[in-house]
Amino acid sequence: MNILTTVTGILSLSTAVSALSLRPRSITPPAGCPIPTWEVTTFNWYNGSHSLDCIHNEADINAKGCLCGTNWCAPDQATCNGSWVNVCYTGMPNYQPWGYGPPETLQIDFADGLSCADQYIGYRVHDIGNGESNCGYADRGLGRIVSFYGSSNSATSTGLMDYVLGDGHALTCANGSQITYSGSTDFQLTCQHDVYFNATCTAEPFEIPVLNYEWVS
Ligand SMILES: *[C@@H]1O[C@H](CO)[C@@H](O)[C@H](O)[C@H]1NC(C)=O
Ligand SMILES: *[C@@H]1O[C@H](CO)[C@@H](O)[C@H](O)[C@H]1NC(C)=O
Ligand SMILES: *[C@@H]1O[C@H](CO)[C@@H](O)[C@H](O)[C@H]1NC(C)=O
Ligand SMILES: *[C@@H]1O[C@H](CO)[C@@H](O)[C@H](O)[C@H]1NC(C)=O
Repeated sequence: MNILTTVTGILSLSTAVSALSLRPRSITPPAGCPIPTWEVTTFNWYNGSHSLDCIHNEADINAKGCLCGTNWCAPDQATCNGSWVNVCYTGMPNYQPWGYGPPETLQIDFADGLSCADQYIGYRVHDIGNGESNCGYADRGLGRIVSFYGSSNSATSTGLMDYVLGDGHALTCANGSQITYSGSTDFQLTCQHDVYFNATCTAEPFEIPVLNYEWVS
């Protein structure tokens, strides 16, 4: 009876923390090697129902607009007194042409200062919600990649985040060998939709466990 009560108590306690405790834990690194901690402190994704989509939406990809100065004017070729251009071209002053809502954005910040931010900018296209995010040029050169997979279409869903520490960010073990790591986790994504179905998605802070290591040759 006492034992059963105790077991039940432990079970209900573990249910309360299951969301966290069921996540895989980071591996134990090889002896003498440091291991990073990847804690996402901020996750913010805005996906408007009428954000310009130069990746998936054929109509948007083919759309032309009237660029007058740094703004967009009425998309009427006959009255356009600026330049009649493809709205998805590289180097546009903004990617909210006439008739479109605010552009899609993604922001992922880590406790160690790494900051990944995406927005359609014409030359470097990140397909938000479908892989790699932009953590900066220096970072890309060194091969550190943070990828996010998820959908903004439900109030709650499961997102996936992968982290690869590139060779350029290799850590040095006590014996001088160099090591890199990668990890991955599911996390709960919460999206709020306004009356136009613009989605603003956030997540509580979470950790991406380190699941693999690799020696740098
Ligand atoms: C350093 O230690 C690791 C294991 O901890 C081992 O795999 C690696 O070969 C060692 N490197 C050198 C240069 O001895
Ligand atoms: C072009 O036309 C728009 C509206 O038709 C006007 O607001 C803008 O000032 C014009 N720009 C120039 C350079 O004439
Ligand atoms: C929501 O979407 C509408 C329609 O595209 C747009 O006009 C509006 O600016 C958006 N609101 C926000 C807060 O992004
Ligand atoms: C972004 O929003 C659009 C419009 O609501 C939707 O069709 C699309 O699936 C969303 N993208 C993702 C990755 O969820």
